[in-house]
Formats: sequence, C-alpha cells, structure tokens
Amino acid sequence: MKTPSTTARSVLAASPAPEGLSLSVIGTGYLGATHAVCMALLGHRVVGIDVDDDKIRSLAAGQLPFYEPGLGELLRRMLDTGRLEFTTDFSAARGADIHFLCVGTPQRPDSPAADLRYLHAALARLAPQLDTDCLVAGKSTVPIGTAEGLTAYLHRNAPAGTRAELAWNPEFLREGHAIEDTLRPDRLVFGVASEHAHGLLAACYAPLIADGTPVVATDLATAELVKAAANSYLATKISYINAMAEICEATGADVNHLATALSYDDRIGGRFLKPGLGFGGGCLPKDIRSFTHRAKELGVGQAVGFLQEVDAINQRRRQRTVDLITEMACGDLSGVRVTVLGAAFKPDSDDIRDAPALDVARMLHQAGAKVTVYDPKAMDNARRSYPELTYAETLEAAVTGAEIVALLTEWDLFCRADPAALGALVQLRNIVDGRHALDAEAYRAAGWDYRALGTPNRLPGQVPVAPVPVPAQNSGCHC
Ligand code: UDX
Repeated sequence: MKTPSTTARSVLAASPAPEGLSLSVIGTGYLGATHAVCMALLGHRVVGIDVDDDKIRSLAAGQLPFYEPGLGELLRRMLDTGRLEFTTDFSAARGADIHFLCVGTPQRPDSPAADLRYLHAALARLAPQLDTDCLVAGKSTVPIGTAEGLTAYLHRNAPAGTRAELAWNPEFLREGHAIEDTLRPDRLVFGVASEHAHGLLAACYAPLIADGTPVVATDLATAELVKAAANSYLATKISYINAMAEICEATGADVNHLATALSYDDRIGGRFLKPGLGFGGGCLPKDIRSFTHRAKELGVGQAVGFLQEVDAINQRRRQRTVDLITEMACGDLSGVRVTVLGAAFKPDSDDIRDAPALDVARMLHQAGAKVTVYDPKAMDNARRSYPELTYAETLEAAVTGAEIVALLTEWDLFCRADPAALGALVQLRNIVDGRHALDAEAYRAAGWDYRALGTPNRLPGQVPVAPVPVPAQNSGCHC
C-alpha cells in the first residue's frame, strides 16, 4: 500500500535512473509538457515536439505557456540537466525508444465525436522518422478502435514497418495536480500487443512501479476504454449529486448534508460528490459525448444512453445558476452589476475550455447584466475568448460596487476572503455560491444574503429544518 505524501516526495527526490530511455513526446500542451518534464525527472532523455513555434520557444526558454502549480520550476530544473529539450523538428524524434502521443482530441465543431485530426497529423509527421525498433504509445483520449487503425497506418508508413509498434497508455492526470498525478498515479494502464512493448513501458515507469503503482496490462481496445469509462464514471458521480440538488431544491432538503451523509458510506465515498455548478474543462464534457457517439456507432448506444442525461443535468446547473442570480435581481438582470469570481473551469488552472463560470458569465451578459469577471490565473485566456465581458485586476476591484457576487470557481483566494471586508466594498450584500465553497454562516453573519443551489435559504443561526420560507426582511432581492 502506498503512503501518498511520502511516495510523492520520494519520486520527486528520486535520483535519475543511470540508464534512462530516449523518449519523444509529441504535443506539448497540458498533458504533453507535464509528461515530458516528469519523464526527464525519472532520468530519461526527452525531446518534446510540437508544431506550435511559440509554445516550443517558450518551453525551451523555461517558460510554461500555461499555469500548472510547480511545473514551471520543474521544467527549468529539467532543462538545466540537459536531459530535456524542445523542438518543432520531428526528425529529433529519430532513434527514440518510445514516442508518446499527447496531442489534443477535442470535440468536433459539427458533432459530438472526437476530432482526431491532430492525432492523425502527428502520426503522419512522426511515422517517416521511425526507422529503428520503437514503440509509439498513445496517451490521448480516443474513441475505442482508434489504436487499431493507427497500428495499420504506422506499419504501412514507418520505414521500420512492423518493428514500429503501437501501444495505448492513457493518461489520468488532473489539471492543477498534474505533477503528482503523473509521478504518483493511481494505476498505470499498458494497452500492448507484445511482451516487448510491455517491457519498454515498464522500463519507462520503473521508479513508479518500484514505488508500488499497480500496472494493468491489457489489449489496446481495453486501454482506450479505461479512460472513457473512468471519465464517464466521474462525470456521472458529479451529475448524480447535482441531480440530488435538483430534488433538494424542490423539497427544501439540503444537498450538502445529503452529500456528507452519502460520503460516509465507503461504497460511495465523498470524492467527486461535490454539488454545484458542475463539470467543465477539456476532458469530462467532450469525453462523455464522444463516448456516447462511439457507442452508437458500435451499435451499443443504449448501454451508455444515461450519459446524455449526465450531460443534460450538468448543463442545467449553468442555467439554474443564472436563474438563481436572476431571482436575486428580482427577475430582471438588465443593468445589474454582477461580479463573477472565477473564469477557469476549476481552481489551480488557467484552462477555460468549456468553463462553467464563463458560460454563466456569458449568459448573464446576454440577459443584460453588467458582468465583471476576476480570476487569479485565467484572465488572459478569458479576455481572448470573451472580449464582451469586463475584467477587473484584483478581487477587491472586481467586487467594488457589485449588486450581486457569484462565486463560480472555488479558488482558495475567494474561499479565504473575509465576508465583512468584501461586504464593505459591494453595493449590495448578495452572494450566490455556485460551488458550495464558502462558509454560509460567516457570510450570513456579515449581513450577506447567501444563496446556493440545493440548499435552503436560511437566516443566521437558523436550525437547518426544511423547507425554510424566505423572510420578508431578507427577500434576496437586490433592489
Ligand atoms: C479529468 C479527470 O479527473 C482526469 O483523470 C482526466 O485525465 C482528465 O479529466 P480534469 O479535467 O483536470 O481531470 O479535472 P477534474 O478535477 O476531474 O474536474 C473536472 C470538473 O469537475 C471541474 O470542472 C470540477 O470543478 C468539476 N467537479 C469535480 C465538480 O463539479 N464536483 C466534484 O465533486 C469534482
């Protein structure tokens, strides 16, 4: 059994293996850059390759082009060892033992299917370089059956022919915890077609395996499916508790108490049972859609039909959050100054892909509210994608003069803020806690009208008995 914190430390402090492998990492986004840096830390010689010149220049100069806690510092340390380099030149991949495919597989603009164009383009550039025995290991999330097709392509187009093997080695890292998840994963999944492929992946991850990380060795299709199944399960768990929040809203029950009670059952557990605005990001939403689409193609759409409801519940959270804010504005958002705290799809990330916070901000803006957004790390990304919104430079500037504050991404900075100090800055003390992350009692005690989806609207000190009628002196209206 691993002891989490000591294992993480021991891997970070590990002296490099004397005989590291030679690796290439194709695609240097959140996944690829993290993988390249962490593999260099394990003692391997790594070249990170990407078609994006700016990204490569930045990484080669030791500047992370995105935010991930601790990764920038580790990147610079690894560059200094000489074991890590970055280039746009695919010929630098030549002769490597393993080539990791880490390019994005976003949702297609015209359908729920995954867009595999970046994966195909990466392999098209890589294959001509493969003139020695090697392994190409896919890490991206792909529809089941993709690896089989890529194997055929590889064998046809690599000069090494069938000596260039394909494996699938899905990645489970969470943004914001990318280093820890890469160096101390819950499990390693090796989708392999030969002992040789297994041996190479085992050599690559040897320090992690020595630390007790379990390895599941399986075929290519199962390895692809593990990722889709894991993300679907996580999404389902989040939507399950948010579905319960809908029931709570209709009955006056309290979803936080419910989640706590459920979490004490070991069979259920409390992780990914946090109610609120729901999931976003570059993985969960598009993965459940592409999985559903692929299952339909395979003739087993019914088996995962429930994922459409999981998606629908998740989307409803966004509209319900807008509804709650509208309720606070007495049914009319026109001209109401609403401050949105958070833009990233979750804290400790600057990623705004399918970010619930920005989706809500966009809907509020469309409904006529004067929306000001603040996020500790995602401001540049948000500004680029939503130029119609107003942005503030600090938390204090963002809330000054606000009539309604909406906490939509639970950054620590927001959760630690003093309700009394914030209260002195706003025009009206109305707050919607979209993430159940604030101390409701502390806000109410500081004179705020605190609201959260799935929890009854209580006065300070009020016994949590539901349903609680909204008292006249605290109607929740901003006006
Ligand atoms: C996810 C998977 O966790 C990871 O294993 C996979 O490899 C990539 O996709 P990530 O997208 O980085 O990782 O974030 P995650 O921590 O899973 O959160 C996803 C979303 O769910 C966030 O928007 C988060 O706010 C939301 N969430 C999470 C909830 O709404 N409630 C919860 O209880 C947990």
